[in-house]
Amino acid sequence: MRIVVADDADRVAQEAADIVERFVSASESPALGLATGGTMEGLFAELVRRHRRRGLSFGAVDAYLLDEYVGLDRCDPNAYRSVVRRLFACRVDLEIGSLHGPDAQAPSLGAECARYERKVRAASIGLQVLGIGSNGHIAFNEPGTPFDSVTRVVELSRRTRGDNARFFPVENPVPARAITQGIATILAASELLLLACGAGKASAVARAVEGPITETLPASAVQLHSNVTVLLDPPAARGLSTSSPGHTNGSLDGSCRNRDGA
Ligand code: F6R
Repeated sequence: MRIVVADDADRVAQEAADIVERFVSASESPALGLATGGTMEGLFAELVRRHRRRGLSFGAVDAYLLDEYVGLDRCDPNAYRSVVRRLFACRVDLEIGSLHGPDAQAPSLGAECARYERKVRAASIGLQVLGIGSNGHIAFNEPGTPFDSVTRVVELSRRTRGDNARFFPVENPVPARAITQGIATILAASELLLLACGAGKASAVARAVEGPITETLPASAVQLHSNVTVLLDPPAARGLSTSSPGHTNGSLDGSCRNRDGA
């Protein structure tokens, strides 16, 4: 596992965009897994900037969302597909039909979850971008999620709903349920890139990368994957043990530390 502590959240976005750019440029038909949430906004903005300034193309990309709220209209500005369209897909040359996500308004959510699981598995995600919840969730896999879980409908925890309330107007609170890819679905991607910024993530990050691998901390499942980069700003990294092995990675600023864990 590569753990990189960048100077600040802007550098996290730039380093993450470097990894995404390398991935989309190296493959003829890249299957890119996208997360949503505040942490992703800097990455999306940086990718849009690169598209506009120097023509970074997403024309060959198929993008797959990790999750979607249940109970929001497709056009609701807080539906994850709307968010990713607004912040990223509609601002680059991604084909309109190349943004994939679970349809949370399908008549049978069970059938829809099975369909989306098959679709994601068939796509063979090359690079999966992840955020992390303050309670250690990845996608919407809340604490206690089995590591062999696949795409399904979940109840969101009180903490997750509280954390995400900042995106929602008071009259329309955070939905109670979502469709999410499972831990097993996520671990099937060839490469994982986990981003975290801010002190509110420090405890979850430390437990995810240095703590025991346990279903009570879903993000600790990334330790089971052989190709993971964890990209942090200093506040998010502050719970990490200083005794971790580390060295400066030549491909990054000297101020970035790369700790090569297990
Ligand atoms: C959403 C997702 C979630 C978020 C996590 C962090 O698609 O995958 O796991 O990444 O809740 O959200 P922010 O970045 O808003 O703190």
